[in-house]
Amino acid sequence: MSEEPVLTSPARILSVNGDINPSRRALARQGNLIAVASGKGGVGKTWFSITLSQALARYGNRVLLMDGDLGLANVDVQLAMSPEHDLASVVAGKIALTDAISAFSGGAARSAGDKAPMQRAGMGFDVLAGRSGSGALDTLSRKQIEALCGDLIRIAVQYDHVIVDLAAGMNGHMMPLFARIGKALIVVTDDPTSITDAYAMIKFLATVHPELDIRIVVNMAESKMQAEKTFGAVHRACEHFLHFTPTMAGYVARDKHVTHAIRAQAPLLARYPQSEAAMMVQQIAESIQTSGPRGLI
Ligand SMILES: Nc1ncnc2c1ncn2[C@@H]1O[C@H](COP(=O)(O)OP(=O)(O)O)[C@@H](O)[C@H]1O
Ligand SMILES: [Mg+2]
Repeated sequence: MSEEPVLTSPARILSVNGDINPSRRALARQGNLIAVASGKGGVGKTWFSITLSQALARYGNRVLLMDGDLGLANVDVQLAMSPEHDLASVVAGKIALTDAISAFSGGAARSAGDKAPMQRAGMGFDVLAGRSGSGALDTLSRKQIEALCGDLIRIAVQYDHVIVDLAAGMNGHMMPLFARIGKALIVVTDDPTSITDAYAMIKFLATVHPELDIRIVVNMAESKMQAEKTFGAVHRACEHFLHFTPTMAGYVARDKHVTHAIRAQAPLLARYPQSEAAMMVQQIAESIQTSGPRGLI
């Protein structure tokens, strides 16, 4: 490997020498906060975040899913939810973060008397919906973002896992979040631009937050061999140029059931629980919950 991969898509990646306050590194990390990120868009972050949330809920965990892609928010669309409140109202100062939480399929706080089949199966989780096109995050000051992250961290203690579905690329607004989260799952596909952009993202995160637990999820893999090849490409570049060894969280096959479920606006684990992709996300969820806040999978 002679040349370092370069960023290929117009993802929002800050320079490693960007706006970083080293004192933030000293902040305590909230181990149960997991960011789902990617260098490039369209790799399946939102779908994976939803499915992972539901898979973790199935294990009896209390889960909160936050749509952190305020520009192109679509967690609510994929779940066919029409939440009364969303993050845009929080950002506008109209409501508190806790008041923007909606329950999906009974929500994370399930009562013993619940009779609905999905609730019995433990499929419910809470959602902090965004609002597509609000551009709300871009108008916020650093201070406001930090306050939002602080609120999220305070709410996170009420859950076993908090999944944050982020916009593609490294948005400077999200830096306070990366200073506080336990894990970052970087979603990558075998598309060469996805690989180079994932590398650029990892380079940034590993340099600024060397203590962050960064794991790779290969999505839309045609086979196990191809998934390993994709992970290998990211792994080699990270080891060679960054002297950093990322972990593979797992891989998910390209599966037509995913497309069908998204079209039906129904979560995969409810609609096609036996599908290949459903089983694979379930496996990743299992390893996440058994590996603890920072252990290797
Ligand atoms: N494992 C998969 N198998 C088949 N199609 C997938 C898979 N994961 C994602 N997709 C497709 O990719 C599209 C984009 O997914 P999405 O979650 O919106 O990506 P992102 O949030 O990264 O932009 C989905 O509409 C779906 O059709
Ligand atoms: Mg998305």
